[in-house]
Amino acid sequence: MENERGSWGSNIGFLLAAIGSAVGLGNIWGFPYKMGKSGGFTFLLVYLALAVFVGFIIMMSELALGRKTGASVVGAYHAVSRKFKWIGWLAMLAPFLIMSFYSVLGGYCIEYMSLNLSNLAFSGAEVKTGSDLFGAMLTNPFGCAMFTILFLVVCLLIVKGGISGGIEKFNNIGMPALFIMLVIIIIRSLTLPGATEGLKFMFVPGYAVKAGFISEAPGLVTVLSTAGGQMFFSLSLAMGAMVTYGSYLDKKENLVKNSAVIVVADTLVALMAGVAVIPAAVANGIAQGIALSDIKLGGPSLLFVTLQDVFQAMGRVGPLFGVIFYLLVLIAAISSAISLMEVLVTFFLDRAKVKGRTGSRSKITLWVSVAILAEALLVAVDGLGSNGLWLPGQGGGATIAGWNDCWLDFMDCWSEGIMMPLGAMLMALMIGWEIKPKSTLEEINHGVAGSTSGLDAFYSVCIKFVVPVAMAFILAGQMISFFGEANSVVCYIISIVILFAFWVVALLGHSKKEN
Ligand code: PHE
Repeated sequence: MENERGSWGSNIGFLLAAIGSAVGLGNIWGFPYKMGKSGGFTFLLVYLALAVFVGFIIMMSELALGRKTGASVVGAYHAVSRKFKWIGWLAMLAPFLIMSFYSVLGGYCIEYMSLNLSNLAFSGAEVKTGSDLFGAMLTNPFGCAMFTILFLVVCLLIVKGGISGGIEKFNNIGMPALFIMLVIIIIRSLTLPGATEGLKFMFVPGYAVKAGFISEAPGLVTVLSTAGGQMFFSLSLAMGAMVTYGSYLDKKENLVKNSAVIVVADTLVALMAGVAVIPAAVANGIAQGIALSDIKLGGPSLLFVTLQDVFQAMGRVGPLFGVIFYLLVLIAAISSAISLMEVLVTFFLDRAKVKGRTGSRSKITLWVSVAILAEALLVAVDGLGSNGLWLPGQGGGATIAGWNDCWLDFMDCWSEGIMMPLGAMLMALMIGWEIKPKSTLEEINHGVAGSTSGLDAFYSVCIKFVVPVAMAFILAGQMISFFGEANSVVCYIISIVILFAFWVVALLGHSKKEN
C-alpha cells in the first residue's frame, strides 16, 4: 500500500533497515566489553532473557504503534493516549541528543579507516601506536569537526533519498557487506595465537575475574541493569526509531515474526562482534607481554587504541584488516544514524502535512542535519574532554562520578541513561494500564495467521508487569552508572517513585479515547 509519505519497497527491505538501525556501535563496541566485564556467560543469559521478555515485547509494541497510526513518534503517541502523549517528545529529544556523539564517533571511524588506507598504500612509512594516534586525533578539534561533518553529509544524502530510495537502498547493500566483513575479521581474530583466552573471557563464567581481566565480579543487580541498558540501546528501543520505521510498514506484514527476526539478528551480530574483537585484543595483549589486567577491553580505547595496535602488529596485511574493520564499524554507525535522523525528519514531514503543506524532505533533512551538527561540534571539539571545553560541574569528576567531565558522557547520560529507560517504562504503563493491551494486540496480530491466544497472554503479562518492573531496575541501574555507586539508594528510590506515580496516573480513570 503506497501512501504519500512513502513506504518500504519490500518486507526484507524493511527488515534490513530495522536490523541496520539496531546493529550499531552498541553491538560492536559496547556488547563485547560489557559482556566480558559483567560476568561473561551470566551476562549473556540475563541479556537473552531480557531480550525475550522485554526487548521483543517493546519491539512489537513500537512497530505496532507506528503502523497503527501511520505517524511520526510524536503523532503516534498523540493519537493513542491522553495522559502519555508527551512521551513522543521524549522519544524525539533522545535521538537528537544521541546524534550529537554518534556522528562524532562515526567521524572517528572515517578517520581511522582513511589512516589504515594510507598505511596500506604507503607501507614502510613510520606508524604510530594506537594511543598516540588516538591522542593526536582527539587534540585536533579541527580534524574531528571535519570528519564529523563528513559523516553527517553521508547520512544526509541517504536520508534525503527517502524511505525506499535512500534508507532501504543503503541497507540492502550495507548489511550483507557488513556481515561478510565481520566474518573475515572473526576468522583473522580466532586464528591469532592466544585467541582462546579471549573466548574464555566471554563465555566461561567467572573467568574474567579468575584470569585477572577484572578485579571483582559485579553483583546480579549490576549485571541486570548493565545488560538491560545495553539491550535497549542495541535494539534501538524507546528512541522513536522503531515507531518511525513501523509507520512506513504495510498492514499485511507480520509484526511478530519481524520483531523476532530483528531481535535475533541484532543479538547474533553482537555476539559475532564480540568474537571478532575480544579474542584479537586479548591475543595481541598476550603477544606483547601485557598483563591481562592491563589489556584495555572497554571504553573508546577498545576500538581506537587496542584494536588499532592489533592491526599494526599484524605486519603488512594489518592495514588491510584495519580498513575492513573500520569500514564495517562505519557502515554499522551510518545505518543506525540514519534511523535516528529519520525520527526527526518524519516528524517535520508529518507536521508540514498537518499544517496543509507538503514538506520538502530535502530541505527538512538539511535543517535537521544542521541542528545536529551544532551540538555534534561541541562533542567533536571537546575531544572526550581532552580540550577542556567541558563546563557544567567542571572538574567535578568526584561529584558527578562517571561523567568523566566531557560532553559525550553528558549527552549519553541524558539520552541513553535517562530518557530511554524512562520512555520505555512509560510506554509499557500506557499500553498495559491506560489504553489496555487489547488495542495494541489487534495491530500486532494483523497479518498473523492462526490462533494468537498464547501470544496475547504472554504479551499482556509482559507489558503490564514484567516490562515496567524491569524498566524500573534498568532506569535505576543506568542512573547509578552515571551518578556513581554512592548515589545508588537515591537512584532506586527515584526510579520506584516514578514507576508508582505513573502507574497510578495510567490507572486512574483511564483514557476515554477510542483507538
Ligand atoms: N542500536 C544502535 C546501536 O547499537 C543505536 C541506536 C539507538 C540507533 C537508538 C537508533 C536508535 O548502536
